Amino acid sequence: MNLFVDTICQLTRDALHRLDSERVWATSEIQGLIEQPPDADMGDFALPCFSFSKKLQRSPKQIAEELQNLLVQEDPQEQAFDAQKRLPFSRIQAFGPYLNFFLHAEILARELLPSIFNNPFSKGLISLGRGKDRSEKNRQKVMIEFSQPNTHKGFHVGHLRNAALGDSLCRIHRFNGYEVVGANYFGDVGTHIAKCLWYYLNHCKDSPPEELRGEWLGELYTQSVHLLETLEGEEAQKAQAEISSLLRKMEEKDPELSKVWDETRQWSMDDFEEIYRWLDIRFDHYFYESDVDEEGRQMVLQGEMDGTFILSEGAIGIDLEEENLGFFMLLKSDGNTLYSTKDLALARRKFDQFSIDRSVYVVGAEQTLHFKQVFATLKRLGYAQAEHCYHLPYALVMLPSGKMSSRAGNVILFSEMRKKMREFILQGQLAEQSLEWGTTEVEETAHRIALAAIKYGMLSQDPNKPIVFSMEDWLVSEGDTGTYLVYAYVRIRSIGRQVALEVSDQIDFALLEHPNEKLLMRRMLDFERIVWKSGEQFKPSLLARYLYELCRDFSKAYGTCSVKHAESESLQAARLLLFHCVAEVLKTGLGLLGITPPERM
Ligand code: ARG
Repeated sequence: MNLFVDTICQLTRDALHRLDSERVWATSEIQGLIEQPPDADMGDFALPCFSFSKKLQRSPKQIAEELQNLLVQEDPQEQAFDAQKRLPFSRIQAFGPYLNFFLHAEILARELLPSIFNNPFSKGLISLGRGKDRSEKNRQKVMIEFSQPNTHKGFHVGHLRNAALGDSLCRIHRFNGYEVVGANYFGDVGTHIAKCLWYYLNHCKDSPPEELRGEWLGELYTQSVHLLETLEGEEAQKAQAEISSLLRKMEEKDPELSKVWDETRQWSMDDFEEIYRWLDIRFDHYFYESDVDEEGRQMVLQGEMDGTFILSEGAIGIDLEEENLGFFMLLKSDGNTLYSTKDLALARRKFDQFSIDRSVYVVGAEQTLHFKQVFATLKRLGYAQAEHCYHLPYALVMLPSGKMSSRAGNVILFSEMRKKMREFILQGQLAEQSLEWGTTEVEETAHRIALAAIKYGMLSQDPNKPIVFSMEDWLVSEGDTGTYLVYAYVRIRSIGRQVALEVSDQIDFALLEHPNEKLLMRRMLDFERIVWKSGEQFKPSLLARYLYELCRDFSKAYGTCSVKHAESESLQAARLLLFHCVAEVLKTGLGLLGITPPERM
């Protein structure tokens, strides 16, 4: 808990009690209301008074004023408030319906900086506004399912949005105290694989390459789709029959076909492993569609026997008219499973084997109806946890030329993007360094810059807004880019190297009196609240925006509050600690977006 917020809660609780002795407000209630005003001129914390209005029977504005009068009351005859408590605030003032609190810069510095310096983010000294909510949710176990690529298809730039989003949400939720299981769910069965293997077995003349075999399978899949489009009449019928037969053999686990399926599937998995390693993304558990296929079928058959599901023209489904979700197909008339079949079994496994309290699915917005239907079906089947399933939809990734489509041939494959970015960075940002540094450091730094650019680009936008992927724009070192943020980080780190001083918290905190220094401290004080909010709202974009603003605040302070040219060594030491803390907050925040900044550039 934030010490200052704690004080505000106690002070206002006592004051509210004096306005109405019957109603006792809990400090935790008040804590949940406190905000940080966007503008420092409005104070460092604000208590909105709307929710007291009904009980106290006066306007929020009037309440704010009365609270102000009570809190700044100096009359010793009055039952005095603890003067010690009021101490951290230089001013307490009503602004319309808000009661605003201004912190003493020195006290803020004394509380904040050592807490970051000595024990970054574990004491929770700089947290704010979590309220009661937090301690309850704290103990919860959350599964976040994300990425879920299909085998036998290429991994492209569009897939990165999901991967970055899911990974960042795992990191943020862990930071916020949840127990997190990051899960993947590979699409390793279905028509797309039959089509790919049909082409591979009957039409492909090349042998697989040494590397990127999964990507190569993706190309075969695309070629297969193209070929199928050109076929007509008998030829087309023959091809369809062959594909159906392959699909049946796959379902029946035909030994010969299983061998090919196993081998090719592994090629895709090898590619994915390599991609995740490069992306610095880890999972705690892998699910496969092939694993839940049969289980799903059994669940549907059982549901039909129980009368929850109904037969419709030979197929099985569920009538969700009551929920306004139409008819949801669960098993084909030929007995084959569907995407939906498998999702029922998958959900059950998640509940049963992992005893999770909350189940999050990061999946594109085009599947919104599907998940509504899945969750409604689970509820009808009697799974109480269905209430705690949540589909996190996200919008498309576009190219400057328009929508990405493998049919139209305008997708950027992951491997292609990675190669281009590396070249771009080595010839751009790191052109000089390439001549001086060893290869390992150059490569590692280029890798980190590329990751920062991609992940920030994918995360800084609200999940429900489309993104235009542009490598050139994302690699610009100025403006709202990941590249800018890692540059800022490196710049802060370099400050320490310019002076012959060690960072220490044995400083004179009163020296940090410049408004730009206070701006930075106030921003850092808000870090944990923002991380909490980003997690609860499933919006890493809030954290991304915060980090961008922190860097802007840093730039301002860097220009006005030089360490190197500070008037005294004590001021140097104070500023050094301040900037060191900014670097720590920035590094922690970037880490929650899945970005590791380089230490020099
Ligand atoms: N592999 C699927 C696709 O590419 C996404 C899977 C989403 N997760 C789920 N539980 N259905 O569309």
